[in-house]
Amino acid sequence: MATKEELLALFEKNKGMYISGEAIAEKLSVSRTAVWKAVKSLQSDGYIIDAVQNKGYSLAAETDILSAQGIGKYLKSICSDLQINVLPVVSSTNTAVREMAEAGAKEGTAVISGAQTGGRGRNGHSFFSPYNTGLYMSLLLRPRNCPSNQAVKLTTMAAVAVCKAIEAVSGEKAQIKWVNDIYIHGKKVCGILTEASFGLEDGLLEYAVVGIGINVFVPEGGFPKELESIAGAVFNNTQSDAKNRLAAECLNRFMEYYTALEKSDYVSEYRSRSLVIGKEVRVIFSDRQVDALVLDIDDDCRLVVQYGDGTTESLFSGDVRVKL
Ligand code: BTN
Repeated sequence: MATKEELLALFEKNKGMYISGEAIAEKLSVSRTAVWKAVKSLQSDGYIIDAVQNKGYSLAAETDILSAQGIGKYLKSICSDLQINVLPVVSSTNTAVREMAEAGAKEGTAVISGAQTGGRGRNGHSFFSPYNTGLYMSLLLRPRNCPSNQAVKLTTMAAVAVCKAIEAVSGEKAQIKWVNDIYIHGKKVCGILTEASFGLEDGLLEYAVVGIGINVFVPEGGFPKELESIAGAVFNNTQSDAKNRLAAECLNRFMEYYTALEKSDYVSEYRSRSLVIGKEVRVIFSDRQVDALVLDIDDDCRLVVQYGDGTTESLFSGDVRVKL
């Protein structure tokens, strides 16, 4: 690791505390001039670092810049094999990880960013991904022997993991609108897009990219007009370290479920957070829309609906609108 990266890891672990230039130089086995240069470089990246004579340097506690070091300090050992790449801005973290997957990247490769210029949502929609107020992350998975009808479980797991992460960091209760939208107080704060590649011969999953987009804060100037009534944010006010912590908590919780893929204890958690069970909904198919009552979500994460004529169907994917 370069001096700057090592220094950032040290600052992140000791946020708000002063460390003398001498102690840093000794710890990183570099000169005090090298420390000073690394501090300057971090400052020019936007890090607020206080320098006080006879006390040393201190990274301001309120700093909330996404970094591998900032995320790393909250990661549990279950995430130790993840390769986390943090980029200040990217076209789409899903596209970036898909390209890495095609080039042979390992399971656990992640791209995390604070802005997307071409964020993608489901069904060809774009995903509003402004600079500095959101968290956009994608994770590459290569589960063995996973048929296509099981791949939906990855989205389900991610939804539960994000809800729990949001609650741990903000204290807000998060709920799920099947299949992948996370809501707080009736507003969508997170969307999940899982993209997959299957083998032609065996129909098994080659890889999946789970992409999570969270509105951590309300963007400066608010959400665009067309999203105003739908979109919300996890926090109303700035918080120190919210994005790094939220990213790590999502990964910690997702990996806990993923490494126990066979156990489906996340399904009951998913059900208990459902915004649609027992509700009248409109099911949106590509060619038609049908009104239905949601009876349940089954153990394979399918939405069990009953139509007006009394027939029932279990849906693997799709979109539903809750009828008011
Ligand atoms: C939806 O609500 O329709 C799903 C939105 C998924 C957005 C996330 S942000 C990170 C990842 N990269 C993308 O381009 N999309 C997903």
